[in-house]
Amino acid sequence: MFLRNCWYIAAESREVGREPMGRILLNEPVVVYRKEDGTPVALEDRCCHRRAPLHKGKLVGDKIQCGYHGFTFDATGACTYIPGQERVSASVCVRSYPVVERHRYLWIWMGEKEKADPSHIPDFHYNDDPEWAAVGACLHVDANYLLLVENLIDLSHVAFVHASTIGSADDTNPIIKNERSDDFVRVIREAPGIACTPSMAAVGFAPVIDQKKIITFTPGSNIWIDIPTRDAVPVEGRNQPMERRVMILNAITPETERTCHYFWANARDFDLESQERSDFFLKTVTFAFNEDKDILEAQQRNIELDPHAGTVNVNADWGGVQAVRMMERLIGDEQPRRAANVA
Ligand code: FES
Ligand SMILES: [Fe+2]
Repeated sequence: MFLRNCWYIAAESREVGREPMGRILLNEPVVVYRKEDGTPVALEDRCCHRRAPLHKGKLVGDKIQCGYHGFTFDATGACTYIPGQERVSASVCVRSYPVVERHRYLWIWMGEKEKADPSHIPDFHYNDDPEWAAVGACLHVDANYLLLVENLIDLSHVAFVHASTIGSADDTNPIIKNERSDDFVRVIREAPGIACTPSMAAVGFAPVIDQKKIITFTPGSNIWIDIPTRDAVPVEGRNQPMERRVMILNAITPETERTCHYFWANARDFDLESQERSDFFLKTVTFAFNEDKDILEAQQRNIELDPHAGTVNVNADWGGVQAVRMMERLIGDEQPRRAANVA
């Protein structure tokens, strides 16, 4: 069961063009494409005739034609053409979804349409703000999306999973502050005087750094990780300690109960014009997030072997536990409304 009344990322903007693209989101098949003027469209990817995926068909102007028997649907999901018959009943249609393009993503609303308010789209402006330079990608992960939420909120794993990439094996005893309200969970990890991470060493930081990680979760599954880093020891020829900021944007869209689409971006406030720096972060973070994928998929397999095997919670789990509880509460709150709407 998923939270439906919220914005999820359906695709990166660059993935969607005049070729229909099919993707399963929240257990529903969705096809996305662009109209001739570039406006994005999101429709149920299941023809109402015999359930063929519409993305296997083709675009005819702004409409999509099923590749099986040629039923043709407009951007609202209404069927406008059935080969061999003149009359098309209004009941012949597929579902359409509100979709908004913002911050280099297509955001989709899969809940009650009248509640779709674009002002609630997560603030991922770092992805297209001229003060920042961002790289990113979409990673498919064979694990429940909440495992990834826990992973991103509890960064105690970084010293172990990512010691050779974006982590420092030294970062095991941070000062932690926790905050929460009804609609966010925040964990602040402060690690003064740790050995520099390999990725920050490549940027030119001193061998010892002060690094903070401000992790903010909001539902559905959006996580900002703000990482200010500073030299903690003098560097020859440098009058001022170097200070830089990296912002990692994460949005996870459930695919099924046991798989998800992980959209991430790594934005930085330095070397904005440097392609070399962009290439470096794309390569390093892709490698690091595949380290997460590896452990999450192994974790998912273990969970499926015995879903009732016990677990323990420790101090570092506070944020993940709060986020999962928040999601359970919000999903629970939606159930009576959805039942009432169906009735
Ligand atoms: S299944 Fe789409 S037209 Fe028949
Ligand atoms: Fe990680």
